[in-house]
Amino acid sequence: MRKKVTVVGGGFVGSTTAQRIADAGLADVVLTDILEGAPTGKALDMLEAMPILRSDSHVTGISTKDGDYSATAGSDLVVITAGFPRKPGMSRDDLLKANYAVVKEVTEKVARLSPEAIIILVTNPLDVMTQTAYRVSGFSKNRVLGMAGVLDSARMRAFIAMEVGVSVENIHAFVLGGHGDDMVPLPRYSTVAGIPLPDLLPKERIDAIVERTRKGGGEIVNLMKTGSAYYAPSAAVYEMVDSILRDRKKILPCAAFLEGEYGLHDIYMGVPVVLGSNGVEKIIEIKLTDAERAALEKSAASVREMTKVLAI
Ligand code: 2OP
Repeated sequence: MRKKVTVVGGGFVGSTTAQRIADAGLADVVLTDILEGAPTGKALDMLEAMPILRSDSHVTGISTKDGDYSATAGSDLVVITAGFPRKPGMSRDDLLKANYAVVKEVTEKVARLSPEAIIILVTNPLDVMTQTAYRVSGFSKNRVLGMAGVLDSARMRAFIAMEVGVSVENIHAFVLGGHGDDMVPLPRYSTVAGIPLPDLLPKERIDAIVERTRKGGGEIVNLMKTGSAYYAPSAAVYEMVDSILRDRKKILPCAAFLEGEYGLHDIYMGVPVVLGSNGVEKIIEIKLTDAERAALEKSAASVREMTKVLAI
């Protein structure tokens, strides 16, 4: 039997995520939104593309305006994208309280109907919303994680590839920490065909790449004016869903619950993890310099300020 994935939130991130999963035939997909008509129409449109794309994935779309999530029951995986998007001039953190209420309600509903599911959070502020879903669902920590590191490191990889002028396939990049302006890109662990970045590029070029990576989401918000990124975010979610449903055990940077790893306790932060059928199967600890550790602690402090406000 094909796996079942629910994508909560039928905006651009949610619908492109649903599309990537269905196009690849990775799972059947239920797309939900509080709007009436739009999720059903988008899902039907995707379904009608399946014969051309030679995928047997079934795609359905439902409105949850009346609070009825029953069509999502028995999902293997739930991706939560629902929430208010970032507008120009608005930090991810401004979204805190509004999106807390959304994520809390959605998590309560989906956790009850899909008690065995793995939940991936995409809603911002990402690390705090993932912690919200963890607390509200009561699921074990390996089954609740957040998407951000894959996106942030993909951005860094794209910038390195452009700078060096080689294939993106040769580039590996590492970004730790919260999905905010304090995220921690790690040039020492970022490589071009195995060569560490500091051996290839002068410091000022690396600093520029690090800065552009940190501001990558905001750069797109400022250009688009009426919305935020969705092609790269949905590609990042797809890579995580694929690793989990196919039990590929890829090492990917994801927001995971830390209980002493990296010296941090009771907090969701972006760290490298092994992603398989049990969700976060292992957290990988890498050695950090004093400066890198200090940057990670600063990022954790920003996340903690928000978890304190919400008392989660
Ligand atoms: C991004 O980084 C808005 O968090 C979103 O594109």
